[in-house]
Amino acid sequence: MIPRKCTDRVIAPSLLAADFGRIKEETCRAIHAGADWMHLDVMDGHFVDNISFGPAVVQAVHESNDIFLDVHLMISRPDHYLQRFINAGADLITVHVEADHDALSTLRAIRAAGCQAGLALNPATPMSAVESFLGEIDLLLCMTVVPGFGGQAFMEEVLSKIETAALWRAEKGLKYHIEVDGGIGLATAVKATKAGANVLVAGSSTFSAPDMAAAIAALREA
Ligand code: DX5
Ligand code: ZN
Repeated sequence: MIPRKCTDRVIAPSLLAADFGRIKEETCRAIHAGADWMHLDVMDGHFVDNISFGPAVVQAVHESNDIFLDVHLMISRPDHYLQRFINAGADLITVHVEADHDALSTLRAIRAAGCQAGLALNPATPMSAVESFLGEIDLLLCMTVVPGFGGQAFMEEVLSKIETAALWRAEKGLKYHIEVDGGIGLATAVKATKAGANVLVAGSSTFSAPDMAAAIAALREA
């Protein structure tokens, strides 16, 4: 596994936009097209208005290759289900600050299990909600759409939060990645990386591209 610094550009195609009947082949397609991480969107139909997949699919992806698995839990009780995703082979687990749990103990439990810990915030959630946890995380995910569905439009108002995330990281001497998720394509990748994001999650713009390798290469250069 290649260690990534918080200054490295990381392209993470979201499996949510893949053909679910061919999960392993789709993962291979993303890897051969140049993906750095696979982003796996877990939705419980409660925290968000959609149901995607659970630990069994994460495990199937894990067993089919050795790409870094970036697991995004859009579930109400990440603390309760955490161990199952760790056992399934997650490398990084991101939980939402808005979920129904003690975020500090969940983040510490993720790291104690040897995984990297991510914290996500929705577009409507202010940066003040995550400030006290920044020393406990490896990645901050600034959602650039209201989570639940792929193919939505990037919300420009999140750019100022990305700038704040980068500013606070420098001021506090921290090293977390800044990830963006939702509506990322060439034009929005330019804006998000300029604001300070380094991990780009992209579903539709990678899996639905006529040439996935070209789409990933373009995001890397954006
Ligand atoms: C949104 C998910 C995203 C989604 C991104 O709820 O967390 O990861 O798959 O999809 P696109 O890139 O299509 O906006
Ligand atoms: Zn996601």
